[in-house]
Amino acid sequence: MSLEGSIIREGSTEILVPPSISERGPGKRQGRVFFNRQMAFNRDVSVALFQSVLRPRRCLDAMAATGARGIRICHEAPGQFHFIINDKDPLASRYIEENVRRNSLENAESRNEDLRCLLAHEIFDLIDLDPFGTPIPFIPAALQGMSRKGVLAVTATDTASLSGTHPGKCRRRYMANSQRNPFMHESGLRIMMGTIVRMAAQEDKGVTPLLCYYSDHYFRLFLRVREGAGVADASLAQLGMMSYDPSTGRRAVGEGRMGPMWLGPLMGRGAMAEARVPEGLECQERTRQHFEIWKEELDVPFYYETNEIAAMLKLSPPNREELLGALGSRGHVSRTNFSPTGFRTDLPLEEVLETFRSVC
Ligand SMILES: C[S@@+](CC[C@H](N)C(=O)[O-])C[C@H]1O[C@@H](n2cnc3c(N)ncnc32)[C@H](O)[C@@H]1O
Repeated sequence: MSLEGSIIREGSTEILVPPSISERGPGKRQGRVFFNRQMAFNRDVSVALFQSVLRPRRCLDAMAATGARGIRICHEAPGQFHFIINDKDPLASRYIEENVRRNSLENAESRNEDLRCLLAHEIFDLIDLDPFGTPIPFIPAALQGMSRKGVLAVTATDTASLSGTHPGKCRRRYMANSQRNPFMHESGLRIMMGTIVRMAAQEDKGVTPLLCYYSDHYFRLFLRVREGAGVADASLAQLGMMSYDPSTGRRAVGEGRMGPMWLGPLMGRGAMAEARVPEGLECQERTRQHFEIWKEELDVPFYYETNEIAAMLKLSPPNREELLGALGSRGHVSRTNFSPTGFRTDLPLEEVLETFRSVC
């Protein structure tokens, strides 16, 4: 039977998608095979990293639905790699097959297996997990099927449970305490990363970030995974707790009840320096702007929200450029990918508040 749907173009790639697709938000399972237009930016970032930073040989798009991600990477970032594009749903794997054929890809093949079976007998240099909701149930299989030095790419759409909205769920899934706060997407992402680090350490594997970010309604992590007790211990050493006091705005790192979470950098500086944004992406300008911020963003946890401080001091938010300029004359300051009105600085809170008052 022929497949239903329509051909769309994302980046420079043609993709057959099913008749009902999600246009925005986390995406609902409308038909049997899933496609969400809003994830084009997420896929653009994968294409950009494959063009400039990632050099794996055997790759697995483990939960591929129509195959959009793996198909786009193979078509738009040609290289010496081979992609297995897999989904456990037999109908999805027929869309993948059709999309491999449509784009004449010689370095991609469609599979139809539960990823846990596939990863029990095959090894990959890069594994991409893109589930509905939490990726945690799939992490052990991915760690098992990873080469000695591999890359794990993970999308997580259960941001609410990680960011303090459902603390009980966060404890059960991530074995960590969360709390709602003005920088909750950063604390949520760090809890997610911390849980993966702990799971990897159980298998004597260390995890370091290449690029971890929040966008739209999801967290996305590109992580380097290396084998060895030493690297596992080094990753664990970057975990800790933190606290936030809403009455003073104080973020205390290394103590408190929020966590455990990753307190190290969210970017690999070498990888970010190498990263280039190619032409022809679907969300060209947006991708360019994000890479610009990721490259400059300070590695200081946790960012401040302009509105949070203004409300605390009972002042109107100041002109953003003026505030960043004044902070920059006293210490280091940067924008943050987590919020267009947020900023990071290495200045102590007292100096942040003093500077804030001086420009209001
Ligand atoms: C959010 S969709 C993936 C979207 C896709 N990566 C994209 O960019 O359009 C999640 C997919 O995971 C598949 N899936 C769920 N559990 C799986 C498993 N255990 N093994 C393989 N695929 C699985 C589902 O059938 C579904 O197609």
